[in-house]
Amino acid sequence: MPHELGIFAQESTRLWQQHAGLLQHDPKRRRHGVVYTPAALVSMLVSLVFSELPPGNSITILDPSCGTGNFLVEAYKRMAQSIQSPESRIKLLRNSIFGCDIDAQAVEIAKRRLWQTALEETGEWRPFVEFPHSNFAAGDALSLLPADDSHYLFPGAGWSLWLASVFQSQFDVVIGNPPYGKRRLTSAQRQYFAPSLYGHANAYGLFLHVGIELLRPGGLLGYVVPASMLSGLYFQNLRKYLSDRCRFRAIVQFGKRSGIFESVLQEVMLLVVQHGQTADPYTLRVATVEDEKQITDLSTFFQICQQVPSTAVLRRSGGYGLIHVPARQGAAAIYDKYEKRGVPLTDAKVGYVTKTGPIVWNRLKALLCDEPAENSRPLVWANNISYYHFAANGNRDRKSGHLQCDERTSPLVTRGMCLFAQRTTAKEQRRRLVAAFPQEWEHATGSFFVENHLNLIMPIKGTASLPPEYVLALLNSRLFDFIFRTFNGNTQVSATELNVMRFVVPDVPIVDEVVRLVRQLQDSRAFSQLKQASELAERLDRIVHGLYGLTPDEIEIIESHTRRAIE
Ligand SMILES: C[S@@+](CC[C@H](N)C(=O)[O-])C[C@H]1O[C@@H](n2cnc3c(N)ncnc32)[C@H](O)[C@@H]1O
Repeated sequence: MPHELGIFAQESTRLWQQHAGLLQHDPKRRRHGVVYTPAALVSMLVSLVFSELPPGNSITILDPSCGTGNFLVEAYKRMAQSIQSPESRIKLLRNSIFGCDIDAQAVEIAKRRLWQTALEETGEWRPFVEFPHSNFAAGDALSLLPADDSHYLFPGAGWSLWLASVFQSQFDVVIGNPPYGKRRLTSAQRQYFAPSLYGHANAYGLFLHVGIELLRPGGLLGYVVPASMLSGLYFQNLRKYLSDRCRFRAIVQFGKRSGIFESVLQEVMLLVVQHGQTADPYTLRVATVEDEKQITDLSTFFQICQQVPSTAVLRRSGGYGLIHVPARQGAAAIYDKYEKRGVPLTDAKVGYVTKTGPIVWNRLKALLCDEPAENSRPLVWANNISYYHFAANGNRDRKSGHLQCDERTSPLVTRGMCLFAQRTTAKEQRRRLVAAFPQEWEHATGSFFVENHLNLIMPIKGTASLPPEYVLALLNSRLFDFIFRTFNGNTQVSATELNVMRFVVPDVPIVDEVVRLVRQLQDSRAFSQLKQASELAERLDRIVHGLYGLTPDEIEIIESHTRRAIE
């Protein structure tokens, strides 16, 4: 390596490490959603995107939140692989690679890393002033507010000004790991992003919107995004925005979090879409990565990817659009049966609706009490609920089984019969759907409070609703757990997702049989007769499989990808 390049590389590495170290303690880190992407994930996403590109063509590639340049360096390495001369490698850098980040220091480091990458292979040195500095911007990609200037540019207009100054056409590839988290928008920005917004704005949704706008027709966008995008209520317009404008090319989920973003609670997935819609059917790649080897070894990773029709991925239930990832063999056919035979929970033939528990306990601490007090009601906590089982003993460690009524809490009292389902469950848990129906307890108390880590599922007045035990049996079934995991990749079980779960409405004798078994199961759990409870759960699962017309092979798939709730 020439002497100058050695010094430059040393200095760049020092700055890079110093930057990473400083970020650990920087409040900006949280505010700007700074989490640099692990190398294996960068490589996986770049490979997915590049595998969709026609061979041989020169391309332009932008990372609008490039940080210290992880994606751009990896993409550039692949593009420059067979190019030897410094001039040609610099030319490629100039013509192809573009980046932006709100953190001016990170942008400087990204530029230096790219320069180092460009020259390392050639054994020659060129002064850094030759770097295509104007391909890079330090500013807010969502409004193009320059980092060191108070001058505000309207979103869109800002982008085109910057873009016009660096290149004429739009990008072939937009890639990256945008920031996540809620963002406040100006009214102008809200108007601009309106087609993809629903409720509060999340940064990654805004970056997806901007990213799509920056693609040329046929261009590819590859992002690391939160898995909540698949089914979350707040992302329903974003899903529509994407499916109206793009073809989905790949969705990769992760079976477990370890080894990916150890320090981040957020569940992520890789998404690749191509600008331009088509009326013709098409297929896309889907995968669920289960172990470290599939992350670090790309050939193993590509082997587990499956091509599935887009119609098996972009689904609707009860008018609600969600993205289902049938990454396991046979999952799409199982989903088809579940979809065809069932109707949503809120359909009059089923007759229930889910709401989020309304009590946020830490805003009402002064009204909590361990024992019943004058004018108090029982408070149901998430840990009162387990599979088929209800234990009204307050919050296990902290007690406080009751909450007093006052002008704030009285309107939040829940009355009448209801089922409860957990609102937060991790994919590592035996079950994502955990529900119970407290028959005895409900009759005894009549009215109560429900904490907001629970969903409460209540009969809709005036509809011919099925018995709660039947609804409970389906919610707690292995089939529902399997289905739920195919579209929910995060830790939330939202009211909307439960409302669109699809229930078969069977003949009365089957309903009666299910009710009878559920009551026995509730009793046997109460007496800790685990073997009997487990047998009853299996009998209920068999009935559910029959209701949805599943074949022995399909049952085998469900059983190998879900766990028994009682063992
Ligand atoms: C999750 S990090 C990813 C960084 C890099 N792409 C990577 O994967 O290593 C998100 C990046 O977005 C940047 N960022 C946050 N808000 C931004 C904005 N409004 N415009 C541009 N960049 C922004 C942060 O500074 C951070 O570098």
